[in-house]
Amino acid sequence: MEKFYTTTAIDYVNGAPHIGHAYEKILTNVIFRHFKQRTDNAYMLTGVDEHGIKIQKTSKEMGIEPKAFCDMNAQKFKEAWELLDINYTKMIRTTDDYHKKSVQLIFKKLMEKGDIYKNSYKGLYCAGCEAFLAEKDLDEDGFCPVHKKKPEVVSEENYFFKLTKYKDAIINHIKQNPNFIIPSFRAKEVLNQLENIEDISVSRAKSNVSWGIDVLDDPTQVIYVWIDALSNYITALGYAPDKESEEFKKYWPADVQVIGKDILKFHSIYWPAILMALDLPLPKHILAHGWITIDETKMSKSLGNVVSPKSVMESFNLNEPDAFRYYMATAAPVGKDGNYSDDDFKEKVNAILANSMGNLLNRTLSMLVKYFDGNIKQEFIKHNSLFDGAKQTIEKVKHHFDYYEVAEAGQEIANLIDKTNKYVTDSAPWTLAKEEKMDETGHILYTVLEIMCVASSLIYPYCPNIASKMAHQLKYDITKKIDDIDFNNIKEGKLISKEEIEPVFLRLDSELAKDKKNK
Ligand code: ME8
Ligand code: MG
Repeated sequence: MEKFYTTTAIDYVNGAPHIGHAYEKILTNVIFRHFKQRTDNAYMLTGVDEHGIKIQKTSKEMGIEPKAFCDMNAQKFKEAWELLDINYTKMIRTTDDYHKKSVQLIFKKLMEKGDIYKNSYKGLYCAGCEAFLAEKDLDEDGFCPVHKKKPEVVSEENYFFKLTKYKDAIINHIKQNPNFIIPSFRAKEVLNQLENIEDISVSRAKSNVSWGIDVLDDPTQVIYVWIDALSNYITALGYAPDKESEEFKKYWPADVQVIGKDILKFHSIYWPAILMALDLPLPKHILAHGWITIDETKMSKSLGNVVSPKSVMESFNLNEPDAFRYYMATAAPVGKDGNYSDDDFKEKVNAILANSMGNLLNRTLSMLVKYFDGNIKQEFIKHNSLFDGAKQTIEKVKHHFDYYEVAEAGQEIANLIDKTNKYVTDSAPWTLAKEEKMDETGHILYTVLEIMCVASSLIYPYCPNIASKMAHQLKYDITKKIDDIDFNNIKEGKLISKEEIEPVFLRLDSELAKDKKNK
């Protein structure tokens, strides 16, 4: 694999990040960290979406200048991703100067190409969606079905983009590339939408929307926020129509662009059309993830049930995000909705990270100290059929990641650990030790420790801190590429002393967490 480029949606900064935003960034970061184990050239882009009527209105309501408002909220996203160990390569802000300039030139190029024309227009605009809606999209009350608000009647002279010109090419692309949209069941939905598309308005009158990027040579118009936002995926790499940067040449097209299912239309219809108009290749995959609910209810400000990643970390007194990362990354099969609840979170991470994985390592190392003073003897080191199973797990995990099946890959890792636990229970090294069958006992411990090396590599993208602590006690090189993983990591000689053994993950105590929350 030569390179890997992945992106997230860029979040509107009209509020603070919640765990729905976090879900997407964690999912993308796990994918990114996995592919970093497969290539030295991996790039993860994230960012914030700062223009448009929604931000203009919210900042005005709060009596803050839009830019100051964006600065304040962009910082909250940055801090949240830091807290969650999202080690992105770059975080773009659409108010960044280089982005604004490139977007203006992109718009200009589309105009010169004849793909943008002027038209007077009357339509219904939903600020929540930042999009015009058709009558048929509204509910019985004439409200936006997503934001439950009446769209605003807008009558303006706007620039229009010839979306219809690209209709057939996009349909063909989707049909010829069955994995372009993941999960593939969403492709049907998009093909249906494509049947009825029209040209789209790509600017707003400045008299109505001032917080945006000006159309070059026409200061009465501001570029539509979705054109501005979608362009981030290439401007961040230094793309401009007059200049393709080295980074752009190296990383574009994206391998996978991760987004929520609510914005699939923008990414699988508008975005491909813009790229085609710019004569650029399309991303290889669009991954449309599902929705995260809280206690099976939709998160919303009006319901007052919006949960931030920071509050989860605080209420469980976590000083590392691994448990939350693991839970979110495995919350739903690819493309399906997932749910967060405190109880389920606690139960699941206690079961897998503490009881199953952490305990296994701890018990095994403790036995090694107890029976062998922490030493591995040459007699312990020989092939075990469990290694063949572990080798298969590696292949299965890779295969799942090829289709961005992050939760499914996580399940394979959990299965490997379960199987290894069962091996220990079945072979009962403590009984063998009593019977003084020491070479056999040692071989069992050695086998488990080799498997734990593999497990630490595989779990690393999800739980980088826990995996590092495992690797540290195993004297294992966690930076190993996935194809270099083998079964000769545990060497003859002293591996560990009693003092060096430490639990890699402490069980979450629900009562303690609840007490804290109530205070
Ligand atoms: O749509 N569960 O921004 P946004 C899962 N600026 N994902 C969720 C979610 C939830 N409860 N709530 C939001 C925008 N998301 C645009 C994107 S990209 C060029 C421009 C996801 O802040 C949502 O699906 O409304 C989207 O992918 C991302 O968070 C940002 O949503
Ligand atoms: Mg949204």
